[in-house]
Order: sequence, then C-alpha cells, then structure tokens
Amino acid sequence: MMRNLILLGPPGAGKGTQGKRLAALYGIPQISTGDILREATRTGTTLGHAAKEFMDGGQLVPDELILGIVEERLKAPDTRGGFILDGFPRTIPQAKALEVMLVRNGWQLDRVLDFEVSDDVVVDRNTGRRVCPADGTVYQIHTAPPKQAGFCDVCGGPLVQRSDDLEPKIRERLREFRAKTDPLRAYYRDTGLLLRVDGARSAEVVFSAIRGALEIA
Ligand code: AP5
Repeated sequence: MMRNLILLGPPGAGKGTQGKRLAALYGIPQISTGDILREATRTGTTLGHAAKEFMDGGQLVPDELILGIVEERLKAPDTRGGFILDGFPRTIPQAKALEVMLVRNGWQLDRVLDFEVSDDVVVDRNTGRRVCPADGTVYQIHTAPPKQAGFCDVCGGPLVQRSDDLEPKIRERLREFRAKTDPLRAYYRDTGLLLRVDGARSAEVVFSAIRGALEIA
C-alpha cells in the first residue's frame, strides 16, 4: 500500500478534509503546513510572527520558513507507517528541497494527489468554511453545517471564520496558487506520481475515489 502522500490543489479544494480521512484510515499523520503556521501565529512564536503578515495577505510565506519545520516534523516516529503532506510543497523550490530531504533520510514518495476544482467552487467553499479554534473541527455552512449554527458539534465552543477566508483574500490565494503552486503539477506529472482527483464532488465520493485509486495503484 502506498502511504507517503502529497495533497496538492487550490485553496479549499478539500485537501484538509480528505487528509483527515486518509490519516484516520491508514493511521498515519496528516502534516498540514497551514495548520502548523496558524498554531504558531496563535501562540505567538517567532515563526508565527514572521508568517502572520504573509498569511493575512493571502500570500505564501517564504520557503526558508517552511523547510526546516517540515523536515523536523517528518522525522517524528509517527511517520514510520507513512505521512500525508497537506499544503506542502507549494513551490518548485520547496519540491526540490523535499527531494533532497527524502534522499537524505531514506524516505520515498508514493503518490501526489492533484485536486482539481473550479475557481467558483474555491470561493464558495472558502467563504462558507467555519472552524472551531478549540478543537480544529471544520464545517461548511452549506454542505456540512454544525447542528447549531455558529457552534461546534464536538465541544460546543463558538465557530470562527479564518481571516484569509474573505473573498478578496481567497482571490489572492488563488493568484498565488496559479503563479507558484500550479507548476508543481507538471513537475510531479513528469515523475509519474501524479494522481488526478476530481475534487468538485461530495466529500464522500471524493474519498472513495481516492481510496480506490490508491488501492489499485
Ligand atoms: P493552508 O491552510 O494550506 O490553506 P489552503 O491551501 O488555502 O487550503 P485550505 O485549508 O483553504 O483548503 P483545503 O484544500 O484544505 O480545504 P478544506 O478541506 O479545508 O494555507 C494557509 C496559508 O498558510 C497560505 O495562504 C500561506 O500563507 C501559508 N502556507 C501554508 N503552507 C505553506 C507552504 N508550504 N509554503 C508557503 N506558505 C504556506 O475545505 C474547505 C471547505 O470546503 C471546508 O469548509 C470543507 O468543509 C468544505 N469541503 C471540503 N471538501 C468538500 C466537498 N467535497 N464538498 C463540499 N464541501 C467540501
């Protein structure tokens, strides 16, 4: 079974949603650089201070802030059975640095799941996303709403909207994606690892399509 995975795709494509499901299914960690950075800004670490301005503007943070964190995280013992990189790499230099990391540590990459969704879906999903800051549960007010509007089903705490989920910021994230992340599709297509995922379907349908594709791959 292929277990060292990258999730690639535009903002709101469903990388986090599918990453959580795959992590639970295979018992391996989902490593989201976005979550790591948001936690760093929340707790006010040096990394958090450095990343905040970029994240609030919808821009990618500089590669050098990301690389060390990812390598350290990948060295943790819970990655022995595999890992899911969610939101990394995001640029060609990050992908090249990952390659060096993989060789240096004797790891290999099995598949890159390439989520395809239209810009309209990206805007709809992100503007409707609400998150629980206490436990990280993610909702979508149209397709996956909480039982009581505005409150988390799991802990009952108030839900919030991510500061980069306002439409102008989403448009900027999309521009960043097209300019800097989209070229990774060709990069990984050339390695033969790219697996296309039609991300516009329901979360359940997308999950079973990914499972099926990974199991026969
Ligand atoms: P990051 O957190 O990675 O944000 P992103 O790529 O914009 O991805 P999202 O979290 O918005 O979307 P997702 O694809 O995970 O979708 P989700 O499953 O939540 O990065 C944030 C920022 O951090 C960046 O802008 C940058 O500044 C920085 N950063 C992070 N990594 C970096 C890196 N490597 N280099 C440089 N900078 C970096 O779904 C979205 C919504 O849709 C949810 O509400 C969900 O419930 C719903 N949904 C999901 N799937 C479906 C479905 N199939 N049908 C209907 N609704 C669905």
